[in-house]
Amino acid sequence: MSQVILTESQGRVGLIRIHRPEAMNALNDAVMDGLSAALDQFEANPDIACVVLTGIEKAFAAGADIAAMRNLDFAQAYSSDFISRNWERLLTFRKPVIAAVSGYALGGGCELAMMCDMVFAAENARFGQPEIKIGTLPGAGGTQRLPRAVGKALAMDLCMTGRFMDAQEALRAGLVSRVLPADKLLEEALAVAQAISNQSLPALMMLKESVNRAYESPLSEGLKFERRMLHASFSLQDQKEGMNAFVEKRTPNFTHK
Ligand code: CAA
Repeated sequence: MSQVILTESQGRVGLIRIHRPEAMNALNDAVMDGLSAALDQFEANPDIACVVLTGIEKAFAAGADIAAMRNLDFAQAYSSDFISRNWERLLTFRKPVIAAVSGYALGGGCELAMMCDMVFAAENARFGQPEIKIGTLPGAGGTQRLPRAVGKALAMDLCMTGRFMDAQEALRAGLVSRVLPADKLLEEALAVAQAISNQSLPALMMLKESVNRAYESPLSEGLKFERRMLHASFSLQDQKEGMNAFVEKRTPNFTHK
């Protein structure tokens, strides 16, 4: 595993840290390849049910590595499938992922956070898509996911001015679900991840797939998919255990089957 990506597990939670402090966690091939490998590892481990993705105190990630990409020409970017080749492993990862954002989440860093299932922000977090200031545009999903997350007007404002949004504005806009004191961010994210990981893993995965369907299809298709997933969940042992436990007024003992 590359040293710019550090991993550990705590119970049923996998923790992934982006660690490239000398470059504000700028995202280069080593980081993105390492992140994909870490996700592969946690996906394959049946004892891991939820992942927390975090960075360093100053930066979740300050975007794609500008020095590494500045000399790319069209043929190189296109032929090497820049971004697509190693940035989107999070999108196929089937277990829940929480982004715990401290400091800057800019450009590709903001886009990476938006690929996660939920975003918790430290009070010092700053979100933005400043690519316009370096003569380009968001290219890892920012022009598509940001309007869905915060609405068209605010997305255009952020992308066209390149300004940064603080944690409270991000909370109001719906980009993040919780704002936490910086020194409590990771502790809280891990505690929430631990609580999530005690739920039925197959039910969590079906839930994640259903919510994500809403992004890919019209409402009627999303609703149909959700309904079929609900029907399918009645074949889980965990569904029987969960509902029996409720009726019998006891704590469920999920076996993740
Ligand atoms: N790429 C490469 N290096 C970066 C970087 C990036 N995105 N962001 C920061 N760094 C480097 C700086 O060059 C600097 O390196 P040196 O010490 O060797 O000079 C180091 O990290 C520390 O950065 P600063 O000295 O600039 O720190 P600061 O506190 O003054 O400012 C910052 C912090 C506001 C994050 C500023 O570094 C900045 O604006 N970074 C660029 C943000 C940006 O434009 N991101 C979008 C990138 S494009 C993209 O992501 C495309 C896409 O959609 C996929």
